[in-house]
Amino acid sequence: MLEYAILLSLLLIVVTLLYKWSISTFDVWKKKGVPYDSQNLYPFIGNMKACFTSGTHLAYLLDDLYAKFKDKSDFAGFFATLQPTFVPLSADLAYTIAIKDFSHFPDRDFHNDPNYDILMNNISTISGPDWKYQRTKLSPTFTSGKLRGMTVAINNTCDLFINYMKKSFSGKEVDTENLIQDCIMCFIGKVVCGINYYDIENPDPVFKKICNTVNQPSWRTSLRMILNFASPRLAIKMKFFPNYVENFFRELTEQSMKAKACTQGETKDFLQLLINLHKEDEMNQNKEGHFDMNAVIGNVFVFLIAGQETSSNTVTMLLYLLSQHPDIKAKLVKEIDSVLTTIPHELTYDDAMKKFPYLNQVLDESMRIYPLIFALNRISTKEYTVPGSDITLDVGTSVMIPVRALHRDPRYWTNPDVFDPERFSPENKKNIVPGSYIPFGMGPRMCIGNRLALLDMKVLLIKLLHHFEVSPTERTPKKIKFDHKQPNMLKSLDPIYLKFTPRSST
Ligand code: HEM
Repeated sequence: MLEYAILLSLLLIVVTLLYKWSISTFDVWKKKGVPYDSQNLYPFIGNMKACFTSGTHLAYLLDDLYAKFKDKSDFAGFFATLQPTFVPLSADLAYTIAIKDFSHFPDRDFHNDPNYDILMNNISTISGPDWKYQRTKLSPTFTSGKLRGMTVAINNTCDLFINYMKKSFSGKEVDTENLIQDCIMCFIGKVVCGINYYDIENPDPVFKKICNTVNQPSWRTSLRMILNFASPRLAIKMKFFPNYVENFFRELTEQSMKAKACTQGETKDFLQLLINLHKEDEMNQNKEGHFDMNAVIGNVFVFLIAGQETSSNTVTMLLYLLSQHPDIKAKLVKEIDSVLTTIPHELTYDDAMKKFPYLNQVLDESMRIYPLIFALNRISTKEYTVPGSDITLDVGTSVMIPVRALHRDPRYWTNPDVFDPERFSPENKKNIVPGSYIPFGMGPRMCIGNRLALLDMKVLLIKLLHHFEVSPTERTPKKIKFDHKQPNMLKSLDPIYLKFTPRSST
């Protein structure tokens, strides 16, 4: 009997302690006077109940918070499970945090040990001086000169892709993202590592499986994300991906390096840049930072993954929007056909980037409607007094800049839900409020690959729309629902089926 009583008391103590822990951070915003949604606040899951119970995407919760408080305040508090998170509610404050006051927010709120979780030893997930060092060293990868050199590989791959599509999918309904991803994987493999990892006609099943393991949600990545918010100390003990994924990228990098060693002279791809940095490191020439073999592997990983997932999703959503707006599609195809008659040679970097103004408008507008990354993540590394208020954020405060909500805020966009590329016409573009349009992020931590992404997406779209009529089918979703199991991205829950019919004139 006594044992039962002791056991029961112990259980009670544990439950009470657990409960106290599960609400331990919930007074933060109240104490600071930051408005927050106190009605929808639950132990352990904070403001994220709808994510766990009704499959609502986190992006929608941020939209709701934004809509609820934006007319009363420039900012609001959110509890991402237990993590108090500061959310700017105006383009001006978002801009200030990411750009003007970057020195207070130079890092992402990402807890990891890059020496243990090697794949996380990359420019996107590391912090502080290590990040600064890598960013400075890796930025030259995407100069206009380097991109000009990459255009040949992108053109060749797209041509092979168009032929493959004509041969295998003419007039057929296809899962668009799955197909586009194959093409983009091909040229990202070439420009990142300089080798054909992936052949469109004979895709390497292992490579694709590994990429899908990384891109698809799993219990492991979900748990890791929750721990990242709820208990950073536990989070760093858990690798983001299983060991076989790490081993795959290690072997891939080592094989590519061996293949390079057999080629005469240096190749001009991203891996070569990483190898050179590593060599300098081994010879102890780097004064400002280190670049060991793990950093080579981690960065090969992030460039291969970030390079293909983002662009293929963006191209897919653009094709989907065109399939729903035949008038805009017709105008775009007319521009592409007519400009191509003036280019007697293969598309160059300057052709793709400068000669298709309406394509730029359509691409910009489709990234406004469907930004893949719906929130930018930062963490404060110094105390920060929020401009225009007496509120001070402590060191270590997590910040989420709500990209999607800013992209659809009626204060910055008239009829924000309407797909209207005219917003980005030369006359209208200059009226866009800084900080209200940020598909590639902003400030020193902005997407490092944005110009490569624009180049590869444009070349692919020009060729695709010149050769194929893209149309919806019965299975094309009428409305896009986002997959809540993808906590970092806005990806359609349902496959985007479209039909690609070869155009008779090409
Ligand atoms: C349509 C395509 C793409 C979109 C929409 C996109 C979007 C983004 C966004 C929103 C960020 C966060 C920026 C911030 O926090 O301010 C980011 C970071 C990053 N992106 Fe992209 N991206 C794209 C393509 C690419 C490509 C092609 C690469 C490389 C091959 C790439 C590599 C990276 C890296 C390495 C970072 C982290 C940069 C840092 O922390 O210094 N991305 N991207």
